[in-house]
Amino acid sequence: MKPIHPTARILSLTAALLAGGHAMAQATGPQATGVQSTGVQSAGAEIEQGHAAFVAKGCYECHGLAGQGARGVAPTLARSRLPLSAFQAYVHKPGGQMPPYSAKVATDPELEGIYAYLQSMPASRNASSIPLLAAYVAGSPGPLIKARSVAAAPPAQPAATSAEGAGVFRQNCAACHGADLEGGVGPSLQAEASKRTVAQIAAFVKDPAPPMPKLPLTQHDLEAVAAYIHGHKS
Ligand code: HEC
Ligand code: HEC
Repeated sequence: MKPIHPTARILSLTAALLAGGHAMAQATGPQATGVQSTGVQSAGAEIEQGHAAFVAKGCYECHGLAGQGARGVAPTLARSRLPLSAFQAYVHKPGGQMPPYSAKVATDPELEGIYAYLQSMPASRNASSIPLLAAYVAGSPGPLIKARSVAAAPPAQPAATSAEGAGVFRQNCAACHGADLEGGVGPSLQAEASKRTVAQIAAFVKDPAPPMPKLPLTQHDLEAVAAYIHGHKS
């Protein structure tokens, strides 16, 4: 019915992720573990392994490479106040939008490493020290954010605009669908306009097909983000 659709690829990617990240680990390889490793080198092997697991299991997709979190997507994990046992228990049986990782998919020793990695984040490398992320944390756009997007912009226009939608997208969707709608955990949305009307996009997002999560958006935000996606020119 529909033209070739990225869903199959995405589902297998998601399946690989949920099946233990082995495929992802192979695909990303050791080079992926080099990211952000500057301050970690002097610390123990457990931290380095934890860093690798954090990447291989896809935790970084939502929580950020440094566990800094992204507002509207996933909370900060760096220097978590949860005790290790609660951290492990949460990952096995999360309470909200986060997908569960069984004890086979993310073993307790692996999670101990991830926990050690996250605890090793120096206080100075928190989200507010990274200009791009500072806006998420403080709600005050840094220069990069300002240049890139009108999203953090003044509230409350009566009609939902695609400019507003850009902000809704960045906060709620970009972690899975990519900052430029190019896809990631979720499919590319760059050609969505050829498949759905604005109203149909809004309807899909309001009541999505799993594994896409249902997000708590207002009708106004739904319309804005649908307008943004529909208006995207690739
Ligand atoms: C698809 C996005 C996503 C992925 C992937 C993901 N998380 Fe989460 N995580 C969330 C969200 C969203 C929350 C907020 C609570 C909720 O909705 O479950 C959360 C919450 C948490 C919490 C609780 C934080 C707190 O302080 O309450 C922990 C711990 C956690 N995640 C660890 C992990 C680890 C470790 C991984 C990888 C093995 C991971 N997450 C992968 C989205 C994700
Ligand atoms: C946790 C990851 C995740 C988040 C967050 C997310 N999506 Fe998705 N989305 C998916 C996945 C996975 C699919 C594929 C679902 C399927 O099997 O059809 C999808 C599918 C879609 C589709 C249908 C694509 C198509 O061509 O069939 C649209 C439209 C969409 N998402 C929009 C959004 C919007 C808008 C947001 C934010 C408000 C959002 N998504 C947030 C994971 C996500």
